[in-house]
This record gives sequence, structure tokens and C-alpha cells, in this order.
Amino acid sequence: MQSQLETLKSQALTELAGITDIKELESWRVRYLGKKSELTQTLRSLASLPVDERKAVGAQANELKALLENSFEQRKQALTEAHLATVASKEVIDITLPGRPFPIGYLHPITQTLDEITDIFVSMGFQVVSGPEIEWDYYNFEALNIPQEHPARDTMSSYWVQVKRGDRQALLRTHTTAVSARVIETMKPPIRTVTSGKIYRYEASDATHSTMFHQIDGLAVDEGITMGDLKGTLYEFARRYFGAERKVRFRCDFFPFVEPGVEMAIACGVCSGSGCRLCGNSGWIEILGAGMTHPRVLERGGIDSEVYGSFAFGIGIDRLPMLRYGIDDIRLFYNDDLRFLRQF
Ligand code: DAH
Repeated sequence: MQSQLETLKSQALTELAGITDIKELESWRVRYLGKKSELTQTLRSLASLPVDERKAVGAQANELKALLENSFEQRKQALTEAHLATVASKEVIDITLPGRPFPIGYLHPITQTLDEITDIFVSMGFQVVSGPEIEWDYYNFEALNIPQEHPARDTMSSYWVQVKRGDRQALLRTHTTAVSARVIETMKPPIRTVTSGKIYRYEASDATHSTMFHQIDGLAVDEGITMGDLKGTLYEFARRYFGAERKVRFRCDFFPFVEPGVEMAIACGVCSGSGCRLCGNSGWIEILGAGMTHPRVLERGGIDSEVYGSFAFGIGIDRLPMLRYGIDDIRLFYNDDLRFLRQF
């Protein structure tokens, strides 16, 4: 029995040394260490041996088992390493090859414009605020000095929403000035805020009109604020966005929530002021409305208009990238044609 185990040992070890792949190694394991292997059978039958023999054979068989198991593990590790080394040497990775491009999204040109202009005001000390697109008529109109039945409501035909609370009726906001009305009610001076986003008006869409478009509204409330601050702020915005060369014009205008009210126009970039189709032959393009916040609007929001001065402005956004890139149809921004959108 003992010499049989010796033979088994040398046979197993010789075979193992000749094995070169993992599959062969596995069948070697089954053959020499598996349930039906000679060694396992020997260990099982120990009980039937006479005591003396049992001890000696048992010790030898257990030793052999441990030896074979160890040798198996070592061989397995060596083969795995060798395998990985060949794979690594065959499959060389050329790290100088340029990576494969994968499609990434871009910011929409309108979003880029909103971000760029917001950043200009933030750098002047304005804080970004936001408000709901579904708004109460109170903030969209009443709080801004546009009572019910006021003709100014007709200039902003609204999408009404079938939601009411008390005497407040919901609608899709028609201008971002509604957010400034909320700011006046909730914040304490000194205030400098800008807000941007989508607004909605019920009107036919064509090359220059869309039922949904974008505005940025700004508000400043502080002691001693004057029209000079308003003009200075808007000049600086125009200088930063359109360049120092571009001429800017202020004219009187009317908005119920400011007094006095102004509109700001920039010289037409196509004809530089001499008149063309884009500017309707006037040489100027209006880009925003502004003014000194009406005392009544401040008072309604709980701000003492004797103590505090305030200016406000509202910039139409969609036109700006149209002017900058010479886009002649606003609808291009909203019909999701990637060939158009990818250009920005
Ligand atoms: N909300 C006005 C509009 O949509 C634009 C505007 C004018 C906003 C004057 C203002 C402002 O904040 O002061 O036509």
C-alpha cells in the first residue's frame, strides 16, 4: 500500500509538470484529487485496515493529499500568469491612438444666451432668483399695477389655467417681471436680482413670434437709486454683450409698473444705423423695456417708496442670438432640428 502511494505520487507530479493549459490541469485535478481518485478511495478505505497499517498509511495518504493540492494551486497560478502575459504581449494597446468620439449634448443657443447675460448681471452684483411659470394673475398683473380690465392686459394675451385660489386665477406667466413682483413682496432692500426663463403669450407664431419665448428681468431697490443707475447698468450690459462700439439709444416708453418708463435699442448690426429690412429701416432694434419702479408697486410689496428708489428692466432674449448669428426665423430654435442646433 505504501509503495503504491509512492508510485502514485511520482506519477501525479510528473504529469503535473508537463501540463501547459488550464483545461488539462482541471482533468488532472479530477484524476488525482477527485472523489473517484485512487487517493480519495484509499483514504476512505482506511477504516478497514488493521490499526498499525492504518496509522502509517493514513499519515502518508494525508501528506500526499496536501502535497498534491499545493502543487495543483502553484501550477494553476503559474499557468494563469503565463496566460495573462501572452494576452498582454499580443493585445498591445496603442495609447497614442485618438479616442473614439462619442456624441455629447450641447447647451441650446437660448440657454447659452440666458447664461451669458445672467453672468453679466451677476458680475455687477445681482443675485439670481427664480419663480414659477404657472403664475397667479396677482403677480403677473395686479402687483405690477395692471388691474383687471386694464387695457395693458390685452397687450399680453394670456393662456389661462383652470386653477383658482380665492380671487387669484392661474395663468402661464406673460413676462418674467412677475418674479420681480414676488421679490418686492418677499425680500428686504437692498435688493439686486435677476431672473430668467420662459414666458407665454397667446399669439399666432411666425418668423418673429412664438407663443413661448424668453426674458430676463432685473430689479434693484436701495436708498438713493436714480435713473442714472439704471442707465449705467444697462449701458454696461450693452457694452459687455454687444461690444463697446455699438450705439445704444434710450427713449420714453410706457409700462404700468414703472414711471418713468424707457425702451432701449441698439444700432442695427446689419446696416449700422442707415436702415435695412432687419431693423424696419429705422436703424435701431429694441431689445428691452425698463424704468423706475412705480411707487405703487413698491408699496404693494411693503417697501416704503419714500425711503427707497428702484429700477427694473426686462430684456427680450430670443432676438439676441437671432441678431448675433443672423437667424431669420425664431421657430428654428424650437423645432428640434439638430442640424440647426449643433451649430452653436
Ligand atoms: N415686462 C415687460 C414686457 O414683457 C418688459 C419690461 C418693461 C420689464 C419694463 C421691466 C420693466 O422690468 O421695467 O413687455
